[in-house]
Amino acid sequence: MVQIDEGVLGSIRLFRGVPREAVEKLLAVASEQELDTGNLLLSPQWSNDAMFIVLEGSLSVRFGGVDYPEARVIPEGGSVGEISILDRKTPSAFVVAREPTRVLSIREAQLWDVIDDSGRVAGNLLRMLSQWLRDNTVSIVELEQMVVARTRKIEETKQEIINRLGRAAEYKDNETSQHIRRMQLYCGAIGRVIGLNAKAVATLTAAAPMHDVGKIGIPDNILIKQGKLNESEFELVKSHPTIGAAILEGYSEEPLISARQIALTHHEKWDGTGYPNGLKGDEIPLYGRIAAIADVFDALTSKRPFKEAWPVSVAMQYIISQSGVHFDPKLVKALTEALPEMEIIQSEHPDP
Ligand SMILES: [Fe+2]
Ligand SMILES: [Fe+2]
Repeated sequence: MVQIDEGVLGSIRLFRGVPREAVEKLLAVASEQELDTGNLLLSPQWSNDAMFIVLEGSLSVRFGGVDYPEARVIPEGGSVGEISILDRKTPSAFVVAREPTRVLSIREAQLWDVIDDSGRVAGNLLRMLSQWLRDNTVSIVELEQMVVARTRKIEETKQEIINRLGRAAEYKDNETSQHIRRMQLYCGAIGRVIGLNAKAVATLTAAAPMHDVGKIGIPDNILIKQGKLNESEFELVKSHPTIGAAILEGYSEEPLISARQIALTHHEKWDGTGYPNGLKGDEIPLYGRIAAIADVFDALTSKRPFKEAWPVSVAMQYIISQSGVHFDPKLVKALTEALPEMEIIQSEHPDP
């Protein structure tokens, strides 16, 4: 018969309020196990038909085999394994001795015998399980909240990096960071008018700031040259979509997939005379077509070192004249519809 110190017996939750005879009957059949520090008592790889009560020493519960500092500790009087014998599944965690530890091992049949003798054991067991459930539910909820908050932070950081990368490219070109912001919002406004869903609009606006990232690879003296570029200089400028696509290549997650597509195709023209690939009509990806019209709209209506800002009406006349030439006619129509929103965006994000 397993000998248990009176003090320890009193601290065992499972036996609280259970008549002495019932406990003694159980102790007569239950066995005792001794563990050295680091010895494994339970493992998710083992089937288990016993629950254990710590008589002396302590155990730690490790998930995934990693000894987290906050691993649950089972002190003297605590128990483990009751769930896996009740649901007859393998244990959900590793249980290891933290120090030389002595445990009382109660097999499933022995537990049912003692429950038959004293309903109090069943009541204690239920109380222990409901406490366990409550503790774990709370930690799952906290964990979920933490995951949501961290994911949001990662998304924000990702977007911030994207925007700043786009800004870096625009600085090279004497453009302003407000160009990036307006262009992003214009793309969203046009996207909504043509009926893109919220997720598609979010991807488009997240990706648009990087349209000119390839300008990082173009020599400064060409980008800031006053006056007309000669043919070889213009050829170099025309390589910025390909350079941009190369910078953004090789990562198969949004918004980088769309960002690459926009960087590569925002200078293609509807009639096939654009660059770098001379794509025509619907061959040009939709996001690239939207970015093209939003980019030109902003370029025309903004002041640049070499030109004054065009009034919106004049810019629109030009854009309409390019319907089916430079731009997708469907998008020219959408831009006309989105114009009130475009003008609000323009007034809310002026160049410094
Ligand atoms: Fe560009
Ligand atoms: Fe641009």
